[in-house]
Amino acid sequence: MTHDTRGMMEPIKVGLLGFGTVGSGTFNVLRRNQEEISRRAGRGIEITRVAVRNPAKAQQVLGDALGTVALTSDFAAVVDDPSLDIIAEMIGGTDIARELVLRAIHNGKHVVTANKALLAVHGTEIFEAARVKGVMVAFEAAVAGGIPIIKALREGLTANRIQYIAGIINGTTNFILSEMRERGLDFATALADAQRLGYAEADPTFDVEGIDAAHKATIMAAIAFGVPVQFERAYVEGITRLDALDIRYAEELGYRIKLLGIARRTTQGIELRVHPTLIPAKRLIANVQGAMNAVLVYGDAVGATLYYGKGAGAEPTASAVVADLVDVTRLHTADPNNRVPHLAFQPDRLATTPILPIDEVTSSYYLRLRVADQTGVLADITRILAALGISIDALLQKESEVVDASQAGETDIILITHETLEKNINTAISRIEALSTVRSGVTRLRMEALN
Ligand code: HSE
Repeated sequence: MTHDTRGMMEPIKVGLLGFGTVGSGTFNVLRRNQEEISRRAGRGIEITRVAVRNPAKAQQVLGDALGTVALTSDFAAVVDDPSLDIIAEMIGGTDIARELVLRAIHNGKHVVTANKALLAVHGTEIFEAARVKGVMVAFEAAVAGGIPIIKALREGLTANRIQYIAGIINGTTNFILSEMRERGLDFATALADAQRLGYAEADPTFDVEGIDAAHKATIMAAIAFGVPVQFERAYVEGITRLDALDIRYAEELGYRIKLLGIARRTTQGIELRVHPTLIPAKRLIANVQGAMNAVLVYGDAVGATLYYGKGAGAEPTASAVVADLVDVTRLHTADPNNRVPHLAFQPDRLATTPILPIDEVTSSYYLRLRVADQTGVLADITRILAALGISIDALLQKESEVVDASQAGETDIILITHETLEKNINTAISRIEALSTVRSGVTRLRMEALN
């Protein structure tokens, strides 16, 4: 097809798998903005078939808006339909979605997906299958919803050696943490509020245990550092055990606690971790509230860059899905070797840089413990830290809330350390907990300066 006949080209045909929040959002955005989208893409983009578990219900919701779209409950039939150029997978999960995506690729179709779990766990298999068939797998919507962070990492920042990424990439947990801080709620109450308001799923495990954020961090780490996706090597810790007391103490010390997805290049390897993290309250990213997402990327040439926006929801996610549909439409006739590689780096040039076990990660730490309020206790603790080369940055002593008479004469100590290896802090904690004057376990939280 030559350029001057472009305007006459048939629209590219898309088959949609799934018609939930993201699927229906994609349908609506594409239909509403079709004129501008086709002016950008160079030809129309049309969803002509939709596979949905309950076509009758979808029919009811869509009514006349459905136009010429054919609904079916046969997902494989859509994937196998020779009239379709692109399959947009919007069903989620890793089992059926994996089968359908691989089948679509095998059929020579391009794939657009919002499925972070699928790519974080099975990305290597899927990208290799796509390479063999010369098709594209586009996944902007898989990380941070509407924020074009994949585009930024893979193309906008391509000149840079990326040093680190730190992201608030799960809106549910950011909403819960914001509620805990602003309203002094405990985790369970803030979660119940989030569920009532529709920010958290009935089964919130993936979100509150940090798994969703780890899927997204895994994908970003692969693109930033040119390594395969390795979800199984990510360290994952959620917010379920976070105590409202620590949010308060952190605040007094000038910090906010956020669930961060961190991917960092070090001389030993790559850190890939998700956990509650104290960050200085004055950082822009510390002030990302509610269900919003933000990703901080540090490149050697550009310095710090920050991307902010909605990480979930029908139309913000559809914004990313439709951008991928446009990308595929623009590039599907290009030589596969000249397209942007799935993971930013050429597939035969991916590195074997190891992902570091959490013991080998370097961080500064917030420690909270309850001690007998008597002479020499602090000296014992600082001696243990000094013996392991751990230096103290700040110390706060707080009158403990006395729950019963046995706790009279006790006090809370909050310590902030300088950077050390995680295995060193763990050794220090077990030695501190063995002191007879220490009356509680040590609460330990990691910190990031992000400067
Ligand atoms: N459940 C996710 C969140 C959105 O709370 O951010 C989809 O990844």
